[in-house]
Amino acid sequence: MEERSTILEAKNMYHIYESMSLEGNVVALRGLNVKIKEGEAVAVIGPSGSGKSTLLKCLGGLMKPSSGSVSLGGKEMIRMTGTELVKLRQETVSFIFQDSNLLPDLNALDNVAQPLRHQGVMPGPARAKAMELLERLAMGDRWMGMPEQLSGGEQQRVAIARALITNPKLILADEPTGALDPITSREVLELFERLHEEEDVAFLLVTHNRDVAYFCERSLELREGRFVAQHGTDFDLSDLSVTRELIIDDTGTITLPPDLLLKLGGPGRFDVPNVERDSLNLERVENEKIEVEAKTKRELAHTCPACNYDYENSIEQTCPECGSTRPIVHT
Ligand SMILES: Nc1ncnc2c1ncn2[C@@H]1O[C@H](COP(=O)(O)OP(=O)(O)OP(=O)(O)O)[C@@H](O)[C@H]1O
Ligand SMILES: [Mg+2]
Repeated sequence: MEERSTILEAKNMYHIYESMSLEGNVVALRGLNVKIKEGEAVAVIGPSGSGKSTLLKCLGGLMKPSSGSVSLGGKEMIRMTGTELVKLRQETVSFIFQDSNLLPDLNALDNVAQPLRHQGVMPGPARAKAMELLERLAMGDRWMGMPEQLSGGEQQRVAIARALITNPKLILADEPTGALDPITSREVLELFERLHEEEDVAFLLVTHNRDVAYFCERSLELREGRFVAQHGTDFDLSDLSVTRELIIDDTGTITLPPDLLLKLGGPGRFDVPNVERDSLNLERVENEKIEVEAKTKRELAHTCPACNYDYENSIEQTCPECGSTRPIVHT
């Protein structure tokens, strides 16, 4: 098979949300590396708060990562001007958000047509293509509906149609079927699968839904802002331990998922006997090799080091005889 080129790549990406609250800043992404090839479908799975939405926003150029680089279609986003970035995004990538994010003052049809209008397409052809997509998503008879008159699932289908209208090469989607009933959800997934297989559209999908994860070639497991593991196509979201492949990144960092850490008997120090190419053994250090000195007690000196005055039981801080400061000593 010919080597496909990379459509999206992030290197050592961090994101910190600054906050004035007592808890302080939130480090949402901690040094992520990810590479998506043209036409590849990748899922991101992970518990609430692990950084999935933050990851998608940083990858799509909607938010600037605090550090690290992101390149889209081989171009580093940070080096681009605002206009260049907008143009590249319009031509390459579409978003589907957790909430549908429709423009409240436009009806369904015009919401879908809007990205094409931005690209300078005339209203007639833009609306015709929008109608075709709404029909594909079984929303043809709701084209006049304003967002507030549509149900959550209907709004999401409009948002999906809007994402597809520019024929993107890459779709970044955050829980795209979260608001849909099982039947609509299946129809949307079939559409994604067709776009993936027939039109070679690449996907990065955040999901809790095993059906979504199934159509992806691989799934990345995100925990507390780090990718800890990768899974192949056939896996069980309720028991990730079976199919998990741990990731060691370029900096040599491994993060153990909580269930694995528990199985290992908790944190500690480990010997690494028999390290070979492609294999690593960990053995808990049972006998402490490094002697840790017993902690010493600290107390006020009993006698003055200058004049030998005996403090007896007093708690004076200075010597009543010579005025020297009473020192603290280790016993
Ligand atoms: N605007 C913000 N300001 C401060 N902290 C934020 C902000 N947005 C997200 N966070 C924090 O960053 C971390 C990652 O949030 P994020 O929304 O990326 O998680 P998520 O994996 O998408 O969760 P969910 O599955 O609930 O959507 C969380 O600790 C969250 O509280
Ligand atoms: Mg989220």
